[in-house]
Amino acid sequence: MEFRIIAIVLLCSYFAAKVIYQWLKPNLHTPHKLPPGPPRWPLFGNLLQLGSLPHRDFASFCEKYGPLVYLKLGNVGAITTNDPEIIREILVRQDEVFASRPQTLAATHLAYNSGDVALAPMGPKWKRMRRICMEHLLTTKRLELFVNHRAEEAQHLIQDVWARSQGNKPINLRDVLGSFSMNNVTRMLLGKQYFGAGTAGPQEALEFMHITHQLFWLLGLIYLGDYLPIWRWVDPYGYEGEMDFVDVLLTLPGEDGKEPLEDVEIKALIQDMIAAATDTSAVTNEWAMAEVIKHPRVLHKIQQELDTVVGPNRMVLESDLPQLNYLRCVVRETFRMHPAGPFLIPHESLRPTTINGYDIPEGTRVFINTHGLGRNPMVWDNIEEFYPERHWSLDGSRVEISHGSDFKILPFSAGKRRCPGAPLGVVFVLMGLARLFHAFDWLPPDGMKPEEIDTEEVYGMTMPKAQPLMALAKPRLAPQFYL
Ligand code: HEM
Repeated sequence: MEFRIIAIVLLCSYFAAKVIYQWLKPNLHTPHKLPPGPPRWPLFGNLLQLGSLPHRDFASFCEKYGPLVYLKLGNVGAITTNDPEIIREILVRQDEVFASRPQTLAATHLAYNSGDVALAPMGPKWKRMRRICMEHLLTTKRLELFVNHRAEEAQHLIQDVWARSQGNKPINLRDVLGSFSMNNVTRMLLGKQYFGAGTAGPQEALEFMHITHQLFWLLGLIYLGDYLPIWRWVDPYGYEGEMDFVDVLLTLPGEDGKEPLEDVEIKALIQDMIAAATDTSAVTNEWAMAEVIKHPRVLHKIQQELDTVVGPNRMVLESDLPQLNYLRCVVRETFRMHPAGPFLIPHESLRPTTINGYDIPEGTRVFINTHGLGRNPMVWDNIEEFYPERHWSLDGSRVEISHGSDFKILPFSAGKRRCPGAPLGVVFVLMGLARLFHAFDWLPPDGMKPEEIDTEEVYGMTMPKAQPLMALAKPRLAPQFYL
């Protein structure tokens, strides 16, 4: 009997000691002075402290422990910040150290073994793939080549909304804006549209759209160390008219003694471009529309500006966009409150370094909390108020949508990994919004007050509204403009 009690006590003591040891181990064994952070559990680290909106949890850690917080996600060391100076330190001053990406399950299984641009670790393969995008898709010359296609898609957008507005029923703006972004992107990449009359057809279109949403959802889940569901993707090739991006990739000669691009490299690039360009701009447009319809005062000011710059006798052109300073403020404010992704794509440090006197070990994952940055009360006043006027330039100069030198918003990141598609992304967003606000008045669905429009978000690599935005559209131009 006594022996059994002694054995149980010994066993319990052993497990208690093990738990305490695990708890203290990082501090006992590492000479590092790590940044402060919340206490962590053995094995799980801080994973159990994260809910369904981790960017909000990360922001509250920063509020509690300071601008640079150290976390353990399972056994992965990570830092997070929502502070402009620390972000500048990571993305600019120490860009060389932090410009890599972690080798996640997502990168392996969803991005052809990190054979793409966005999820590839720093190295010659990433450099080559990024250069191909910059030189063969995202040059000013190539963007200009597609200006007519974009104008056509902007007109399809207006026709689509006009047709849907005929029954005086609420329009699902997520569908409309998703089709607009997807058509714009696939036309450049594949020479093919998926939405609207005379296109690749609704079945293929819906599958395509669904896969893109899934991809972002999975990417978001996985980089918090979650499980990987089986995923498949369509590989649509299409050729019509001038050389699309796939045509260009197929004709690229080999370089430095290398073979031309392999099929899998082309697939990785195309998938990256579709994923990076479509959801980001569609999600931004839906948030902007939601906030503007929620604030009729803002809608009125946008329309006043459009009526002055464009007038009622023609449609908005890309050349008008630099003059639409108030709309540009609206887009900046949308990026402040609802950045397309709550974190940048996670970065990873290539070697040990220090930030603000704290040691950051090699291989630390970096979560730059752009959602937290836009709602950091040390950086912005009245953080929960949608107030575009805060971005107005007092000297009348053009309002820049990208980050300024102050790093107070960061929609496209900075440094080596900054978004290479930012100029195109800005055009997709501004053009979509300008056309929709110029051609239509917008109201919440019947019976709902503007202020009742909800702004609940769901977490993922991009961060859409929880519920698709529904709204009533009333044409405000002469009928011939909708044909
Ligand atoms: C409103 C639209 C867009 C937004 C808000 C956006 C935002 C971003 C952000 C935040 C990143 C991560 C940067 C980092 O990890 O530091 C990124 C990366 C990237 N974006 Fe965009 N983007 C947009 C449109 C586009 C477009 C139109 C393209 C191309 C056609 C594009 C291509 C890429 C690529 C390839 C990367 C990965 C860069 C790398 O890892 O080297 N994006 N984007």
